[in-house]
Amino acid sequence: MVYERENRVFDDIGDEGEVWFGEESVDKMRAWAHENLEPSATPIRVLECGSGNGTLLLSFLTSPGPDPQQFHLTGIDYSAGAAKLGASVEKARREALEDEDELDEDDVINPVTCEWRVGDLLRDDIDETWDLVLDKGTFDALALSQDPVAEAGNRLPSLVYPERVARLVKPGGFFLITSCNFTEEETKRRFTREGVPFTFHSSVPHKSFSFGGKVGQTVCTVAFTRDADGPTNARPQFLAPESARSSPAPIGTPAQTGVKVLESRWVPPVAPLYLCIDVSVARSWPI
Ligand SMILES: C[S@@+](CC[C@H](N)C(=O)[O-])C[C@H]1O[C@@H](n2cnc3c(N)ncnc32)[C@H](O)[C@@H]1O
Repeated sequence: MVYERENRVFDDIGDEGEVWFGEESVDKMRAWAHENLEPSATPIRVLECGSGNGTLLLSFLTSPGPDPQQFHLTGIDYSAGAAKLGASVEKARREALEDEDELDEDDVINPVTCEWRVGDLLRDDIDETWDLVLDKGTFDALALSQDPVAEAGNRLPSLVYPERVARLVKPGGFFLITSCNFTEEETKRRFTREGVPFTFHSSVPHKSFSFGGKVGQTVCTVAFTRDADGPTNARPQFLAPESARSSPAPIGTPAQTGVKVLESRWVPPVAPLYLCIDVSVARSWPI
C-alpha cells in the first residue's frame, strides 16, 4: 500500500513524513487563505486535492488571531494509506494543541471538522463544491503520468485535471496551487485555458534565483477564482455553426481529418447539434 511505510513510521515515532516544498510553502498558502477568505458565520469549506499526510489542511486548525474561524476540511487522495495517515496526524495535532505551549503567540484554535476521503480526482464523480480548493504537488505528480484517462476521452491527466478541479470550486470561490514542475506562466495558462472556468487572481512570491540573465523560481503559488458564470462542468467546446465559420470544417472520418472525437452527445433543442471536438484542434481552425 502506498503510504504504508509513512504510516508505520508515524505510528512508531510520530514523524509526519514529507512536507512537499517545505514548511515555508505551507505557511505561504495558509497566509494567502487567511488574507483572502472572508470571515464567515458558517464553516468555510476547504478541500485539498491529493492531501497526502494532511499537513497543509491541518494548518487550518489554527488561525492568526484575534478571531477563530470555523472550517470544514476535506482531504481527497486516491491512496487509502494517505487517508489513514491524515486522520492519524489530525488526532496527534489536536492533542498537541491541548497543550497551550504548542500554540504560536497570537494564534487561536479554530472549531474544525475534518474528513479524509479515498477518491480519484481524475475519474470519480464528485458532486460537491468547496469555497477553497488547494493543491500542493498533486498537479505536478499527475502531470508526470502518460496514462490516458478513459473516462475523459483518453486525454492526458495534465489536460483533464484543470477541468475536474474547476468543477469542485464554488462559483466565486478560490483554487490555490503550489507547483514545482510548472512556472507561474505555465500554471496560469493551463488553469485558464478554454473550457476551464478560472480567472487568475494573484500569485505569492517565493525565493527567486537568476541564471543567464533570467530570473526564475523553484516553486510557484498561484490563485484563481472560479468564474460565476462559467460552465458548471467543463467539457470540450462545441463548434460554431459552419455558416458562421470563415472556412469549412474538415469533413470525413477522424483518420482522414486528424480530428479526434472525444465525445458526442445530444444538446438541448435550443441549438443545432454540433460536433464536439478537442479545443486544441478547434483553435487551429479559423472560425
Ligand atoms: C506530491 S504528493 C503531495 C501530497 C500533499 N498535497 C502534500 O503537499 O504533502 C501528491 C499526492 O497526490 C495523490 N494523488 C495523485 N494522483 C491522484 C488522483 N488521481 N486522485 C487523488 N489523489 C491523487 C498522491 O497519492 C499523493 O498523496
